[in-house]
Amino acid sequence: MTSTFVTVGVVGLGTMGAGIAECFARAGISVIGVEAGPEALARGRGHLEDSTGRALAKGRLTEAARAEILGRVTLTTSLEDLADADLVIEAVPEVMDFKRAVFTDLDRICKPSAVLATNTSSLSITAIAATTTRPGRVIGMHFFNPAPVMKLIEVIHTMVTDEGLAEEVADLARRLGKTPVTVGDRAGFVVNRLLLPYLNHAAVLLESGLAGRDDIDTAMRLGAGLPMGPFALLDLIGLDTSYEVLSVLFQESRDRRHAPAPILRERISAGLLGRKAGGGFYGPGEHADTSGTPGTSGTPGTSDPSADGPSPKRVAVLGEGGDAFAARLADEGITITPVEEAEAVLALSSVPVIELAPRLPHPERLVGVHLVGEGVAEVASTVLTDPRVARAVQGLVRAAGRVPVPCRDRAEFVVDALLYPYLNDAVRMYDSGYATCEDIDVAMRLGCGYRQGPFETIDALGLETVRDGLRALYAEYREPFLAPAPLLEQLVAAGVRSFRDRP
Ligand code: CAA
Repeated sequence: MTSTFVTVGVVGLGTMGAGIAECFARAGISVIGVEAGPEALARGRGHLEDSTGRALAKGRLTEAARAEILGRVTLTTSLEDLADADLVIEAVPEVMDFKRAVFTDLDRICKPSAVLATNTSSLSITAIAATTTRPGRVIGMHFFNPAPVMKLIEVIHTMVTDEGLAEEVADLARRLGKTPVTVGDRAGFVVNRLLLPYLNHAAVLLESGLAGRDDIDTAMRLGAGLPMGPFALLDLIGLDTSYEVLSVLFQESRDRRHAPAPILRERISAGLLGRKAGGGFYGPGEHADTSGTPGTSGTPGTSDPSADGPSPKRVAVLGEGGDAFAARLADEGITITPVEEAEAVLALSSVPVIELAPRLPHPERLVGVHLVGEGVAEVASTVLTDPRVARAVQGLVRAAGRVPVPCRDRAEFVVDALLYPYLNDAVRMYDSGYATCEDIDVAMRLGCGYRQGPFETIDALGLETVRDGLRALYAEYREPFLAPAPLLEQLVAAGVRSFRDRP
């Protein structure tokens, strides 16, 4: 059946459209790329040349193979050139009116058998289909940025999609070397429904002063093992696109955590749209997040080593896991003392440590330390912590081989505060019957480059640990979305240890 897709049109050659065109051309399929005018067309050509040029420079493509790929793409400013295309994918900006206008034109121009697909990130495919005379031939084909690299395609069918069409499109996705995950038409589908609220939450926490931009990115990259921190990723996706997706989610859910963080609107208004505009949360050339070293944002609480204070010589370590960490510090020449004699008191915890303060002779020397994975230590200052002590503890954890992430003393600090609600959302999504655990895991691994999907992460951390973390977050913030999903509570109560073992 997939041999029916011989010629493919792509409408809109921005970052995503050009990437999608490249995917088809790489698979040997002829592509007609359409842009609104000559300038936009030249930019689209530039995206294609840059992307294949990068592969050439890395030795991933030969000059001849690159020429063949580029030769398969015909560029035009006329939609009429799509009259004979078998499949057209629309990749214009995430605005319903733009999409409707394109689909109305495509419906008029394209042959009746042609499939009209949209790369929308969140808009209703049912509503887009309704603008055509062929709603059964309209489908979602959602790629991920950068399209030539990310292995997932979400295939989205509506209530009226022709029988068999979703499977035909899924086969085509496989032909491109991608893995399809097929789902119904809900705002955000699988990936954006889980990803965007997490990114928005990071922006809210940044605004609240929990931690700095670089520190949150470092924490999520090195602590949670994600390929990019949330602000580097917002820059890659585009702040405007993220804003539009969140707005659609909010419209459907009326859940205020889907309401775009004001910091997004401010930056968009200032023209800071992300990488494509030369800057978003990071400035041009400032994407230290992917290079392995923290950036130099000048934001408060940066984990830059130059912000560390001199290491305290006498330290007390409290809390679970405290002995092992104390031994590690002793190896670095630090004297471990009782609380009364210490200069700094480290409380190993991920719940607010301020509750310990009244029992200490010097509460200003108390700092919360949360060891995350093998490489990160969150260093939490309470409302009483002396900033010099906090900086000294940063130096101390760095000497112990960990990257310090300075933050405020709040429930679950940074990594878990961002991770657990995302995991909770995944459980709710599965429980709603929208997608299987396996499909959700595949979608997050291949769509976002995660090492594990959310259910694999929950199993690795332990269902009870995640449930307890959510309870702690809920106890502090009282936000409904932080309450553990009923299914998670039930599985823990039933003693089920893994999502793989669920009945
Ligand atoms: N175009 C083409 N190829 C690219 C590219 C681009 N823009 N960016 C990176 N690549 C290629 C590189 O050439 C390289 O290929 P080879 O291994 O063949 O040499 C590979 O990708 C890895 O690139 P780098 O080594 O330069 O950089 P990296 O290892 O830091 O990886 C990344 C970059 C692939 C982007 C990685 O950081 C990642 O997976 N990030 C997560 C991206 C993500 O979450 N995307 C989904 C966003 S959500 C979305 O798109 C949906 C929506 O609707 C909003």
